[in-house]
Amino acid sequence: MQDSTRSVAVLATGGTIAGTAADPGDNIGYTAAQLGVKALVEAVPALREVPLLTEQVAQLDSKDMDFAVWATLARRVAELLARQDIAGVVITHGTDTLEETAYALQRLLAPAKPVVLSAAMRPATALLRDGPQNLLDAVTLAREPGARGVMAVLAGTVHSALDVRKVHSYRVDAFGSGDAGPLGYIEEGRLRRLRDWPMVDPLGLEALEKGAWPWVEIVTSHAGARPEGVHALVKAGVKGLVVAGTGNGSLHHALEAALLEAQRAGVGVWRSTRCLAGPVQMKPGDGLPAAGTLTPVQARIELMLQLMRG
Ligand code: SIN
Repeated sequence: MQDSTRSVAVLATGGTIAGTAADPGDNIGYTAAQLGVKALVEAVPALREVPLLTEQVAQLDSKDMDFAVWATLARRVAELLARQDIAGVVITHGTDTLEETAYALQRLLAPAKPVVLSAAMRPATALLRDGPQNLLDAVTLAREPGARGVMAVLAGTVHSALDVRKVHSYRVDAFGSGDAGPLGYIEEGRLRRLRDWPMVDPLGLEALEKGAWPWVEIVTSHAGARPEGVHALVKAGVKGLVVAGTGNGSLHHALEAALLEAQRAGVGVWRSTRCLAGPVQMKPGDGLPAAGTLTPVQARIELMLQLMRG
């Protein structure tokens, strides 16, 4: 039974869910981050019955997401969740970097209440807009008794922040959870849960007090890979490199030599895979640490956080 005495905080950051186009049939030529949080909530009649607290934290296309917004979000989410009268938090976000924000918040906070990212693949003006249903489903999950951790709900599917990834550039059902599979589904306003809530040891907000996020880049191994890009990054002062390798994180020999050289120079180097799912496992003789089940973008965030902690 959902708790009707406590509120859900809806923090808006922009994205296509808040996007508008001049032509309702235009699903790609729109401008993201145009509508404010009040308009998003008002578009969902069922939310009139739910106690909500709304805040506009940012207003951007999530391709431009940055560390300052992450820090603001992490601090505000922690403050709100500490309140007895708040059941959970919903964050409206663009789909393009949703998985990065979700992973960063889970690693920093691993909250004991639900934090649910909501987004849309179609702008608010589209004939077939998915934002209002996704927002309603996110609020439903944020009010679920016992729910905890950072999650995302899109197209009725609940994903853990530890697994979620955008897997399609256009379809409305654009997200997946790799090998782990979805955490559950929201069906007619009810959660059907398939597995446990996201769990991880949180690094805590103190991680953010340690200074600026270190510069970490992602490079890719492919046919004809060359070492010069890595050399240039090291010369320019990069602090960490995540390489999206082939298969089990294998690397073109020229790129591997440059990455080993970078590692010897003190740069943190992790190997992930450019495959859409599956882990990178260490084997005897591997000179560069494996990122396990982390996707390249997750591995980059994890490496930044580890470097930040020193
Ligand atoms: C964005 O990520 O802000 C734009 C694209 C989207 O939300 O689908």
